[in-house]
Amino acid sequence: MTDSAAIAAGTGAEPGAGAGTNAGLGDGTNAVRAGLPEPVKHEPTLPGPVFAAHFHLPGDPTGPYTYGRDDNPTWTLLEQAIGELEAPVGSAGAATGEGSGGEAGAGVETLVFASGMAAISAVLFSQLRAGDAVVLPDDGYQALPLVKEQLTAYGIEVRTAPTGNDAQLDVLDGAKLLWIETPSNPGLDVCDVRRLADAAHARGALVAVDNTLATPLGQRPLELGADFSVASGTKMLTGHGDILLGYVACRDAELSASVRGWRKIVGAIPGPMEAWLAHRSLATLQLRAERQNANALAVAEALRGRGEVTGLRYPGLPDDPSHKIASQQMRRFGCVVSFTLPSRERADRFLYALRLVDDATSFGGVRSTAERRGRWGGDAVAEGFIRLSAGSEDPADLVADVLRALDESAG
Ligand SMILES: Cc1ncc(COP(=O)(O)O)c(C=O)c1O
Repeated sequence: MTDSAAIAAGTGAEPGAGAGTNAGLGDGTNAVRAGLPEPVKHEPTLPGPVFAAHFHLPGDPTGPYTYGRDDNPTWTLLEQAIGELEAPVGSAGAATGEGSGGEAGAGVETLVFASGMAAISAVLFSQLRAGDAVVLPDDGYQALPLVKEQLTAYGIEVRTAPTGNDAQLDVLDGAKLLWIETPSNPGLDVCDVRRLADAAHARGALVAVDNTLATPLGQRPLELGADFSVASGTKMLTGHGDILLGYVACRDAELSASVRGWRKIVGAIPGPMEAWLAHRSLATLQLRAERQNANALAVAEALRGRGEVTGLRYPGLPDDPSHKIASQQMRRFGCVVSFTLPSRERADRFLYALRLVDDATSFGGVRSTAERRGRWGGDAVAEGFIRLSAGSEDPADLVADVLRALDESAG
């Protein structure tokens, strides 16, 4: 049995080895092979989930597998897979869609969590201390204001600035950590990660990027200079709307150890079944991303010609305010489109009239979803603001459904 097969079987070999991805191969190839152990005769390609609260452990309690809150062989393979996709590969390419994957992870250590929020909290709360200052976006994921409240209660100064126009630069002085979310959810503004990371590092600050919307096939924050790439794997990474997951990818062993320590004490760990389902889903990430991103562009182009639509945003549209910087640092523009209808009533009628798009929150799944974002009360958006996540339906069907629902909601 090879080391990595031993990991999969939970027999105590060192984690980290594996068939790995190759920087010379395309995203689809790397996605289907990410994190797979070396082939072993009579063993499955992707070993099944290892359900274990504890592992046989005679003698001194040395790893890798001791207790199920600390580590699990199914996580190890998934962490290897995500690390391979997040790993830097030379300089960032343009949005051509191909060429991802660091050479077998290239020193990236990844930690999986029970949810995106568990991953986000792990970075913020493991790195910041009372008296520190942190910069958050003021237009990011709607749970960030709740995080801000908690950080403030712990004596951490929280500064906020918008994502667009790299406005976070103006409040960086003296900060310990810069938190970036690009493209931002739900407004889809994009900032220049490399510029912000350079400025933050010059001031001694760490940089974390929420890579949820783009996925590692859309952008690689570590390559752009970030210290942490953090994401909710609940969205496009896993893509079926059936699991919650989060991860933190990082190149610095000390930083990674402190995030790992936080995971151990908070216990925000994914179940082995979720981890295995996530790994299984990674194999189709490139296929899903290609279809969903193309569908998002098709929907955005169709909405462009509609008089009742204002504030249309999609970073892949050549005339979108984010397009220039997005094309420099992203290889795919994501599956989310946002726009505003004239009123809350019009938006509700539109959502009700859709047949192929579910009225549901979240994004990135193979089934299209849309929602009136103002219903949550957390985002600074108009009452008629819609966030639409394009799924994997046939493009003509999806566009026709959206246009028909717009027509029907007019009356
Ligand atoms: C950009 C972004 N980051 C983080 C999260 C949180 O992820 P989770 O719901 O998996 O905790 C979300 C959820 O919508 C999100 O959109």
